[in-house]
Amino acid sequence: MTEKFLIEPCGALQGTVEISGAKNAALPVLAAALLTEQTCTLQSIPDLSDVHAMCALLESFGARTHFHANTLTVDAGGAEPLDASYELVGKLRASFLVMGSLLARFGRAKVPLPGGCAIGTRPVDLHLKGLAALGASIDHSHGFVSVSAKKLQGAKIYLDFPSVGATENIMLAAVLAEGQTVLENCASEPEIVDLANFLNTIGGKIRGAGTDTIKIEGVRRLEAREIRHSVIPDRIEAGTFMLAAAISRGDVTLANVMPDHVKPVTAKLKEVNISVEENDSSVRVFCKRDSKIIAADLKTMPYPGFPTDMQAQFMSLMATAAGTSVITETVFENRFMQVGELKRMGADIKIESRSAIIEGVNRLTGTQVAASDLRAGAALVLAALGAKGATEVSGVQHIDRGYEGFDVRLNKLGARIRRV
Ligand code: UD1
Repeated sequence: MTEKFLIEPCGALQGTVEISGAKNAALPVLAAALLTEQTCTLQSIPDLSDVHAMCALLESFGARTHFHANTLTVDAGGAEPLDASYELVGKLRASFLVMGSLLARFGRAKVPLPGGCAIGTRPVDLHLKGLAALGASIDHSHGFVSVSAKKLQGAKIYLDFPSVGATENIMLAAVLAEGQTVLENCASEPEIVDLANFLNTIGGKIRGAGTDTIKIEGVRRLEAREIRHSVIPDRIEAGTFMLAAAISRGDVTLANVMPDHVKPVTAKLKEVNISVEENDSSVRVFCKRDSKIIAADLKTMPYPGFPTDMQAQFMSLMATAAGTSVITETVFENRFMQVGELKRMGADIKIESRSAIIEGVNRLTGTQVAASDLRAGAALVLAALGAKGATEVSGVQHIDRGYEGFDVRLNKLGARIRRV
């Protein structure tokens, strides 16, 4: 049975919410745990369906995993390079990252083309170009990609686009290649830095993560005394709660945040008249009394630009801002899935090619809407918080992929959401 959220309008959200570890950091780290025979203890791992699906995939190769209270141990000592299952890989796109690890450790991997959120065609050409540059031969057949190499050789690789997943997959493979790999025009997201830190913890040699050039000195064997790693806080979950505070005209403090990682969201919120106070590891978002939220334009960009994963939530805020805003999506070609549903709630939005033009209306009205993907789903929940009348959001399984107890934590701040 699929679940729904029944959302009654609420007043200003208030209180403190603790931000979870980052899904998009945890998943590549889990793929990386396949590289080593040693047991890894991973902390701040969010309790999400995507994380459990990734654990199931690692187990399908013979790894052992144990999850308890946001700590995950992975023992891939007994893993083998078996074919990855279509059912498991189809559940999440990040599962494609096991390709780099299996190739590096065993010299081969066979993985189906990935699934994940329906937000565009999402090819993997950059992943495969990078692996080919390291010396892998690549074969496509029946929806599977097979890669193999007797030996991987470090190389200079220039990415046409700073793809997060391609950067990660190539890093995973290059760790055990012979010689140096230089990855240029690569992604610089905080999750890439976290993966590099984990790879260095297990015995890899990586420099430059967080910039557009990463250098990886291949090592023959991965050796480490003890493998313990705590993943970074989730900047998208944090951004989503920041928007929930703004939409409800509330006053919410987010604990366990890296304020630098949410800077693009902070800057936009300030631009539209919301106050944000940054501390060492927390952020407070609040509205000054009677202040009007004003429209602002934005364009999604790779980090440190405004994250595509926050675009839908920001649109929910702009739907009732004073004036016209233009939101341009440059990262994915089909990421305005929330627009039709927001319009059903009374929003005035037109799409022109890669831009959405939003005329702010006074208030949205509750109705039945469907979450098509993770972030679009979060955007609908946020829109419902400030709407007039009750909203029913179906497709909650998409939201559960990326937010740990989203309803429960919003309710602690004063929201009125029932899971049915
Ligand atoms: C990751 C995030 C996702 C986020 C996205 C962009 C994870 C698990 N997911 O996804 O939440 O929205 O980064 O910040 O970390 N592309 C190609 N060829 C490739 C690979 C990508 O053309 O081989 C294109 C994609 O179609 C897309 C763009 O590059 O248009 C960005 O994709 P990418 O950065 O790879 O995103 P993901 O790693 O899939």
